[in-house]
Amino acid sequence: PLVPMAPLLAKAEEGKYAVGAFNCNNMEIVQAIIDAAEAERAPVIIQASQGAIKYAGIEYIVALTKIAAEKTFVPVALHLDHGTSFDQCMQCIRSGFSSVMIDGSKYALEENIAITNRVLAVARAVGVSVEAELGKIGGTEDDIHVDERDALFTDPNDAKRFVEETGVDALAIAIGTAHGQYKGRPELDFERLKKIKSLVDAPIVLHGSSGVPEEDIRKAIELGVRKVNIDTNLREAFVEGVKEAIAKNPKEIDPRKLLGPAKTKMSEVIREKIRIFGSNGKV
Ligand code: G3H
Ligand code: 13P
Ligand code: ZN
Repeated sequence: PLVPMAPLLAKAEEGKYAVGAFNCNNMEIVQAIIDAAEAERAPVIIQASQGAIKYAGIEYIVALTKIAAEKTFVPVALHLDHGTSFDQCMQCIRSGFSSVMIDGSKYALEENIAITNRVLAVARAVGVSVEAELGKIGGTEDDIHVDERDALFTDPNDAKRFVEETGVDALAIAIGTAHGQYKGRPELDFERLKKIKSLVDAPIVLHGSSGVPEEDIRKAIELGVRKVNIDTNLREAFVEGVKEAIAKNPKEIDPRKLLGPAKTKMSEVIREKIRIFGSNGKV
């Protein structure tokens, strides 16, 4: 069934595990996520970015995910990833998303609190969950130097104030992860995570998790992360599956023979992630 995100994260908090949030932009990805979640008996978050919505169309994203959620026994939240405006969050809520992210991380703290509260006021009235972001997560192409880490990473005291003044359902933080493929091994600021967790009541979200080594993901979850975002690893698995299928049969003209293997590859990756996150067997 389609459910809001907040209860999934509340249960994860109780059980000390994390719920996987996987990015989708087409039918094969949605099906791969559901297949994996069912096989692992795991609650799951399917999320769509602005780019994904632009590519597939908001109606297609909602229709695909809704039918998948209605048919399955695992709880599924449909979440807007990195929403950047109030209007876009409202469009997603109206279209049937059960959760939205308002990413006000580019604003000053007060402004970020204000825009998050505006979204929350509406979302609360209709039972939709809200994630916010504090600190600059960025991409792997932005080289973060040691002296900049303090300025870009989430300030624990700001996080405390942010959650107290918003009551947001989930908080994305910057502790050294980045979106996309990493050049080297990311260096996560676990001390900062510990501090934030001790001051903040909301479930913590880790973005840019694809290239983070398994042991660091496990440690982050031990220290309080309750939602882990994965996109890049699914893109890699998708393309790898297609390439392998073409290499095996260069004359293939049936798209299903290329996308089928891609779906299987993604599903295997998702199952592995779910087991690392500890959300397997929770349904
Ligand atoms: O947060 C970033 C996600 O990986 C989505 O990326 O904007 O290219 O769809 P995208
Ligand atoms: P990756 O693409 O690095 O897995 O990040 C996903 C993400 O954080 C989506 O918001
Ligand atoms: Zn992200």
